[in-house]
This record gives sequence, C-alpha cells and structure tokens, in this order.
Amino acid sequence: MELNGQIAVITGVSKGIGRSVALQLLAAGCKVYGLGRNRPDMDHPEFNFLSCDVRRLEEVETCFAEIFKAEGNRVDILINNAGLGYFGYCEEMPIEQWDEMFQTNVNGMFYCTRMVLAGMKERQYGQIVNIASIAGLEGYQQVSGYCATKFAVRGFSDALYKEVREDGVRVTCVYPGSVKTDFFRNSENIKPHDYMLDPDDVAQAMVNFLRMPRNFHTVNLEIRPLQPKGPRKPQA
Ligand SMILES: NC(=O)c1ccc[n+]([C@@H]2O[C@H](COP(=O)([O-])OP(=O)(O)OC[C@H]3O[C@@H](n4cnc5c(N)ncnc54)[C@H](OP(=O)(O)O)[C@@H]3O)[C@@H](O)[C@H]2O)c1
Repeated sequence: MELNGQIAVITGVSKGIGRSVALQLLAAGCKVYGLGRNRPDMDHPEFNFLSCDVRRLEEVETCFAEIFKAEGNRVDILINNAGLGYFGYCEEMPIEQWDEMFQTNVNGMFYCTRMVLAGMKERQYGQIVNIASIAGLEGYQQVSGYCATKFAVRGFSDALYKEVREDGVRVTCVYPGSVKTDFFRNSENIKPHDYMLDPDDVAQAMVNFLRMPRNFHTVNLEIRPLQPKGPRKPQA
C-alpha cells in the first residue's frame, strides 16, 4: 500500500520508538502529526508537532480538532506509542506511579483512538497501531503495574480489531521485547545495552506492515532481540 500522502498521527514523538517511526513515515511520504509533551529534534516540512499530554482528554481533543481542521477530518494512521514504566515491589509502588502508567498507557490510547474511529469507519480505511510490550503477553516480577497496563492494551486491541475489521480499519498490536531507548530510566536493574532491539528496526517493522496490501492485516506482532544477552560464541 502506498503510504505517500497519508496523514499519520503518532503519540510520544520526543525520543525512542515514536521518534524513529515519525522519521520513517516522513521518509515514506506521510504527513506526520506528532503529539507529545516535548518537541523532538526534528526538522521536516511535513512534520507538525502538537503539544499534548495524552493523559488529558481536553488536550487530546484540542489537538485532533486542529488536525481535522487542517486535513478535512482525515487521519489515516494512528500510532499509540506514548507510554512509560515504573518498576518495583507491588506493595511499594506509589499510587501516583500506578495512576500515571494507566492514564498514559491505557487512557491516552483510548482517548486518541476514539477521536479517529468515526472518520476511519466513514472512509472505510484506517490503520491503528498500539504499542504494547512482551509485558502484555506475560507477567514479570516487580513489573506488575506496567504489565497490567500492557495486558490492557492487548485486550483493547484484540477487541477493537474484531469490532472494526469489517469497516476496513486495521488494528495492530505490537509486542516488542527490550528496545534500546530511554524507557529504562526508572529501572534500577535494567540499563539500555547494544543487545536490545534498535528503535529504528522496530520502526521499520511497523512501516513494513503498514505498507502491506489492503487485504493483509497484521493483527499481532511480537518482536524480540535474537540474542538478548549477546552471542554465546564469537560470531562467524
Ligand atoms: N523500550 C522498551 O524496551 C519497550 C519495550 C516494549 C514496549 N515499549 C513501549 O514502547 C513505547 C515507546 O517507548 P520507548 O521505548 O520509545 O520509550 P521512551 O524513549 O521513554 O519514549 C516514550 C515516549 O512517550 C512519551 N510520553 C510519555 N508520557 C507521555 C504523556 N503523558 N503524554 C505524551 N507523551 C508521553 C515520551 O515523551 P516525553 O516524556 O518527552 O513527554 C516519549 O516520547 C511505550 O509505550 C513503551 O511502553 C518499550
């Protein structure tokens, strides 16, 4: 499918996976609206940054009103990427951290998705990508809150794809393993390293399935580093 000329909205574009996806969709010819709290270091005539904390419904609504005004109510691609994790023993997790994860990872995804669905169904075309995690497929100790949010992303995505596939709208849930980004800043145990996935490669995988022909729907995509602890033997 030709991505050139499509209107894409990506949440959380200041860094990491979201920034990589934005750059690659721009390279594919999309017009990209990046929603986030911090403007990325990115200069492209087809890139528009809109200040938005996805936890705040009124900010999300204001951003989409601006996009719809400029684009005639049209958004072709929505990437729900904004997210964060806090880690630690369940009984020690501050309520504020639990709330921030759910408000960002789950509520933010819902707020943005509900803005685009009516138009996509009307046009019988749209692509929605939700970034979950392998923490949305299995639980990890000291990751209970983050896992709970990503299990929610998975449930939402699975239900929504069944709800809108007959309307020509593709919903895809992506489950990355560890990606070398700033995501681990709140973790005492895990630091980014070169055996993690590269965010540019994750972005490439996403652009690949976004490009697939209309009748090809990637429902779930699980991606992991091949040798997350590094090669056992020197590579040939
Ligand atoms: N890195 C991994 O290993 C990994 C693995 C699986 C899934 N994921 C998921 O992938 C997504 C992207 O993470 P990343 O690895 O790229 O991490 P990252 O480098 O920390 O980037 C996260 C992005 O989300 C934005 N964000 C956070 N809270 C926000 C809010 N309230 N409103 C708007 N934007 C907000 C951040 O922007 P500001 O903070 O600048 O506002 C930033 O641009 C997340 O959903 C994460 O859960 C990551």
